[in-house]
Amino acid sequence: MSKYLVTGGAGYVGSVVAAHLLEAGHTVTVLDDLSTGFAEGVPAGAEFVEGRIQEAGRVLDGSYDGVLHFAAHSQVGESVTDPDKYWRNNVGGTIELLAAMRESGVRKLVFSSTAATYGEPVRTPITETDPTEPTSPYGASKLAVDHMIGGECRAHGLAAASLRYFNVAGAYRSREGTVLGERHDPESHLIPIVLQVAQGRRESVSVFGEDYPTPDGTCVRDYIHVADLAEAHLLALDAATGGEHLVCNLGNGNGFSVREVIDTVRKVTGHPVPEVTAPRRGGDPAVLVASAERARERLGWQPSRSGLAGIVEDAWQFAQVAHQEQGAARR
Ligand code: UFG
Repeated sequence: MSKYLVTGGAGYVGSVVAAHLLEAGHTVTVLDDLSTGFAEGVPAGAEFVEGRIQEAGRVLDGSYDGVLHFAAHSQVGESVTDPDKYWRNNVGGTIELLAAMRESGVRKLVFSSTAATYGEPVRTPITETDPTEPTSPYGASKLAVDHMIGGECRAHGLAAASLRYFNVAGAYRSREGTVLGERHDPESHLIPIVLQVAQGRRESVSVFGEDYPTPDGTCVRDYIHVADLAEAHLLALDAATGGEHLVCNLGNGNGFSVREVIDTVRKVTGHPVPEVTAPRRGGDPAVLVASAERARERLGWQPSRSGLAGIVEDAWQFAQVAHQEQGAARR
């Protein structure tokens, strides 16, 4: 069994991966500054250190076998209006993390990268060798880190994987029964927003553009269940070898439109979901679908929760629990 540091382990994906590591018998330390994460998201059994990634040096020592690095700012829109925040934290913070790993002799890293590194795709599905021309400082900051990690592998023999997520969704029930899911403040992602409408917490969902060159005119995305995504991280820890930087897309290879997502939420929840048409949101590509061939070949990864209804069912379960907890906290 191994010992891992999980940066950003109080956030959505980081907490689900930390839970999977613990359930596989590993020892986990979570480092998170709680700027966007939630302390209650840190799975029971993990040691929790509240702090920034710049402080990884005070946690890491030779007893760690590797780092899984999720801590980052991740709002595309905010990165356009406040790019400095993204360069300082996502890039600057990772420079410090890599230095701390070198100094403590920790030689394995799995990094949370993104489809946003590709920008407007030149073809569908997207493969890892396609051009990377991010259209936001968020995507550019993640791509910069991918390059930094590649250099670290070549120069210092780091074993690393960058996993490029498409649209992560769904929720995961840990072995203690805690449901770990997605919440942002303010919420900006499609599935949580549509579920809030189903709960009656919002009047309607705005469909950002219905004149895209897609079958129903709305944007198409590749939704991947967070538990399938987490499994890929554990496989990447096994697959990573010294001196190699493995870059893998993580998606199902199936696209669903905004309208299909809304219809699925109606079916799963049994609630009406009023929608209104709104202008396109700046920077949204029409279609983002992954080729996950490389993840299949190199990691032996096989996503098993690829249906949209199952993903929405799990996200709905989390949305209801989170809503009840918020209500209880207010009382
Ligand atoms: N959308 C709406 N209405 C909403 C919210 C979203 O129509 O209220 C649409 C968006 O325009 C988009 C789709 O729903 O077409 C999905 O939007 P999300 O915000 O849920 O997700 P994105 O595809 O924008 O973002 C994902 C990841 C980001 C990553 C980005 C890459 O969540 O981390 O892909 O482009 F940067």
